Amino acid sequence: MASGDRLKVSIVGGSGYVGGELLRLLLFHPYVEVKQITSASQAGRYVHTVHPNLRSVTALQFTHPDVLAEADILFLALPHGQAARSIERYTALARYVIDCSADFRLRDPAAYVRWYELEHPAPAWLERFVYGLPERYRAALSGAHYASGVGCNATAAILGLAPLADAGLLREAVVDVKVGSSEAGAQPSASSHHPERSGVVRPFKPTGHRHQAEVIQALGDTFQLHFSVTSVDLVRGVLATCHCLLNRALSDKEVWQLYRAAYQREPFIRLVRSNVGIHRFPEPKVLAGSNFCDIGFEVDADTGRVVVMAALDNLMKGAAGSAVQSMNVMLGWEETAGLTFPGLHPI
Ligand SMILES: NC(=O)c1ccc[n+]([C@@H]2O[C@H](COP(=O)([O-])OP(=O)(O)OC[C@H]3O[C@@H](n4cnc5c(N)ncnc54)[C@H](OP(=O)(O)O)[C@@H]3O)[C@@H](O)[C@H]2O)c1
Repeated sequence: MASGDRLKVSIVGGSGYVGGELLRLLLFHPYVEVKQITSASQAGRYVHTVHPNLRSVTALQFTHPDVLAEADILFLALPHGQAARSIERYTALARYVIDCSADFRLRDPAAYVRWYELEHPAPAWLERFVYGLPERYRAALSGAHYASGVGCNATAAILGLAPLADAGLLREAVVDVKVGSSEAGAQPSASSHHPERSGVVRPFKPTGHRHQAEVIQALGDTFQLHFSVTSVDLVRGVLATCHCLLNRALSDKEVWQLYRAAYQREPFIRLVRSNVGIHRFPEPKVLAGSNFCDIGFEVDADTGRVVVMAALDNLMKGAAGSAVQSMNVMLGWEETAGLTFPGLHPI
């Protein structure tokens, strides 16, 4: 595509971790050109001063969010609550808006009261946004103009559980999620201070994690969901270990057939299954920077429990990667455009 034909994309909240990953992806995307990337605190500075991996890759400078101009596509990567407050402004500036926050992920305004303890400031917009997980909402995303982002822990749980839930086999799922530190964003806090964060295996939300709402919305409430999140000593990465109790016992082969049927055509889902070697199950480490979600399982022959493991990079498949994948679906482009980086090994 000639550079003049590329669609103009801007990123709001560009100094954050998700904004940085969006920029990395969009700079190499074949059908778009990055027009603006905003930051109030870094306005006027070159983007590489905040995202050093992009030194010499782009000469873009941060612009202040107040001077955000019209674009074809806007990506919002703002702290929770900011996008909803200004959604009329953003949608007036661009035909396509993809918001990575939780502000438009849930359809039901009452769910925001329950899970976020707030009255949604723009409830009429909720039904206009499609949940930005193409593996689940591809048809609705196709041709849509507004997409939400995804919760990273929710994405691992949804993709891990979906084949069993869709088949009506799931009775109860205990989802134990381990997460890296970049999930909390670029703003430092007491819990991210190095002496406090380094080496941790710290229970973060044993119950009541907000991403549960997204899992229930995506998979339905026909099974009992238990969800616990623990912070571990990783920068990037989510591993959801899902202990699945079923309505009837399944053999190893039956589980494999179910997952293969669900995911064999998905470009970003890889089934990990091997009897030998050290990489027999999904691991977040080898997914850093990639848009893959790796899924594996093992059947406990003694109890009938199926342990499903889903791993991803929270900043990629759990945020910026799914957002760009959603853009590709919305615009009718190849779904993999700009997303082919396979990750690194060793890392
Ligand atoms: N981190 C993850 O793994 C992850 C995964 C999935 C979804 N998400 C969601 O993605 C969003 C961004 O996350 P993040 O981790 O990138 O956060 P972050 O690192 O804290 O970045 C937030 C960005 O928003 C800007 N900002 C703050 N208030 C603003 C306002 N009122 N108007 C315009 N810009 C504003 C900040 O820069 P300035 O203050 O300089 O403007 C910064 O660039 C969050 O809603 C988060 O829930 C994050």
